[in-house]
Amino acid sequence: MKQNQTCEFDRIIDRRGSDAIALERLEENFGTTDLMPFWIADTGFATPEFITDAMRRRLEHPIFGYTAESPAYRPCLTDWVAKRHGWHIEPEWITYIPGIVKGIGMAINVFVKPGEKVIIQPPVYHPFRLVPEANGREVVANPLRELPDGSYEIDFDNLTQVADSDCRMLILCNPHNPAGILWPRETLERLADFCAERDIIVISDEIHCDMALWGKKHIPFASVSERAANCSITFQAPSKTFNIAGIVSSFSIVPNPELRKRFYSWLEANELNEPHLLAPIATMAAYTDEGNEWRKRMLSYIEDNIRFVEEFCRDNLPGIRPVRPDASFLIWLDCRALGLNQTELVDLFVNKAKLALNDGSMFGKQGEGHMRFNIGFPRAMLLEALTRLSQVL
Ligand SMILES: Cc1ncc(COP(=O)(O)O)c(C=O)c1O
Repeated sequence: MKQNQTCEFDRIIDRRGSDAIALERLEENFGTTDLMPFWIADTGFATPEFITDAMRRRLEHPIFGYTAESPAYRPCLTDWVAKRHGWHIEPEWITYIPGIVKGIGMAINVFVKPGEKVIIQPPVYHPFRLVPEANGREVVANPLRELPDGSYEIDFDNLTQVADSDCRMLILCNPHNPAGILWPRETLERLADFCAERDIIVISDEIHCDMALWGKKHIPFASVSERAANCSITFQAPSKTFNIAGIVSSFSIVPNPELRKRFYSWLEANELNEPHLLAPIATMAAYTDEGNEWRKRMLSYIEDNIRFVEEFCRDNLPGIRPVRPDASFLIWLDCRALGLNQTELVDLFVNKAKLALNDGSMFGKQGEGHMRFNIGFPRAMLLEALTRLSQVL
């Protein structure tokens, strides 16, 4: 870890006055506003200038009328996915979608009839449960199996038990939020075989895919086999990596022509596949060699942040075990050794240490005893947060 050197990611940015959910929804979610925000998954890093410059150039034009998708948009996506993940996709497999959570909701409406079921694998990103339920579809849980290091694996034995003939869809978090797992190829192959045999569509949410750490690789689900390609819908986006969630820049990739026709004709019918003006501009500015260099610097800072949290916990917070993520900027904190129930644990973080972290139980009851810590922030802010924790403990 480089010591005593400041860099672009050390800059502390005041988000007040920008309607940031991280601050504006503190009261609603935590009952108080005097908290440091390490919860919702956007980072404290400035969106890189090559993206803001590209948008600014467009803003200089005096008219913001109806805008066609740039012919350069899809080739830029195919190029990025091939270079970053070795997955060769065709331009016609792709369409813009207005957000990945919305994409999940739309796919459920197209493919899962009322009365049919959606499989999720908790602990997992909570909209995977909330969106099907809010759409009146039943959710079937196949809890992940915990490993000794605090990470997880897919429980295929239980999956066989719970996946009945009403199950139409499985939502996979790849890489996994909250535990930062890069699923191994064998797991993805096995899951593809399992789902293809049962006519279950896999939604592979790959929003964190460009943030593999420690020299490891993200494997797109659909790339592992023909069966995987044929049974899946993949969602990706530059939003997490480049901190542009507010630009809404996600896209869908569907190799199977039948699934594609069903999904994309529904999107088209509702004009949900039409990008808004700034989304392709920001995406094309991000998915460049310059973007890739920035991405690597940002991830190197994240790796140092992870080491920093690990060292601090080891030396000062023995009851808290950070589960090392293999991707992205979220750390799953195993706090079970503190011996607190979930209400006491949340009270410790929120009311005593004045820190807004996600309550682990929101990702499923398997998340009890955990908190999710967004460490995509300047290290000085992490030091302040961890110091507060050590003081109240
Ligand atoms: C796994 C996962 N999917 C989707 C989202 C949100 O995506 P969007 O803002 O495109 O709906 C998040 C945000 O935290 C996420 O972690």
